[in-house]
Amino acid sequence: MLVQTSLLATPRIIGGNRAKPGDWSWMAAIVSQELAPVKGQFCGGTLIHPSWILTAAHCTEGETTYNIKVFLGANDLTKNGETIGIKRIIRHPNYNYNQEMPGSDIALLELQTPSTQQVIRLAESYNVLTQAGQQATVIGWGATMTTSYDPGYADYLQQTTVPIVSNAQCNAPISYTGDVKKTMLCAGFTDGGTDACVGDSGGPLLVKSNTGWQQVGIVSWGEGCALPNYYGVYSRVSSFQSFITESICETADIPDSPHLEVTIDEKNVIVSWDDVMADGYQFYYAPYSNPFSSITLDNIESIDLGKNTHFSKDLSLLKAFTPHNFYVAVRAYKGNCYSDYSNMGTITLH
Ligand code: ARG
Repeated sequence: MLVQTSLLATPRIIGGNRAKPGDWSWMAAIVSQELAPVKGQFCGGTLIHPSWILTAAHCTEGETTYNIKVFLGANDLTKNGETIGIKRIIRHPNYNYNQEMPGSDIALLELQTPSTQQVIRLAESYNVLTQAGQQATVIGWGATMTTSYDPGYADYLQQTTVPIVSNAQCNAPISYTGDVKKTMLCAGFTDGGTDACVGDSGGPLLVKSNTGWQQVGIVSWGEGCALPNYYGVYSRVSSFQSFITESICETADIPDSPHLEVTIDEKNVIVSWDDVMADGYQFYYAPYSNPFSSITLDNIESIDLGKNTHFSKDLSLLKAFTPHNFYVAVRAYKGNCYSDYSNMGTITLH
């Protein structure tokens, strides 16, 4: 993690902030098999299922299950933690290796034995967490300096806060001129100064939601580090949801699908569903107009409701929206594995 003042000044470069001990318990270091974590860490990853690590595909370039391992459970790489070997590496089928700007830069590492750490929740496809200006946090053990003779890899996990930038702004002529694809996401300050850097790849970009931290990006590429107009570029996690869940979720991980009902009284609309013994529920809504127009994928939005088994909204608030009518549905989740959608309900306001 890197913070720098001006490029060629005496290397007066300030590191990001140290993460607090015990924070980010699902953060993994990817380490060369024969080395200790503090010597051999070269990428980050996240525990997204007890037996699976999410990382960047370019981190696995030239690697096999025999020459890497992961380290979890300590923010200080010199301390004791869990070291686990790799059973299988799954790179995204569309991953294309390009040193400067890898496409579909996402891979999954299956662990030889499950980790005992908590898993991080991945942002769901229709989430509203990645709007421009949203504050996000990136963490890693990567370079803290840009001087060539000493990258200053961190022993201690570093973190920094950066705003999410729209793809349009990130693709402006002064920035990446169209190289940022829809499956990528940018974050950083126009003036630069703080960013992920070499060695942080594969680690997470996180947003704090109403139900806790969610991972929205994977550190992937950038022109230099922390340079003005050259934002950090991340793989957009929500673009790869089906690849991830199809790879990691087995039948036993998948909760039953809930059944929902909509009731409306004078003041509130209440959508409720049965408790299917899940970690939580993702709620989906899509406005439609009367006379009927079909829902398009563009206007579905979703929010994480945690363990709540109902959603209620003041009618007067809903009436402020045009159109007034909504389709609603829920999915139950256990970790990052989802049930099928519930039946679809409708909210029709008069
Ligand atoms: N590709 C680099 C790595 O392998 C990290 C790139 C992130 N760069 C940035 N400026 N955000 O570790």
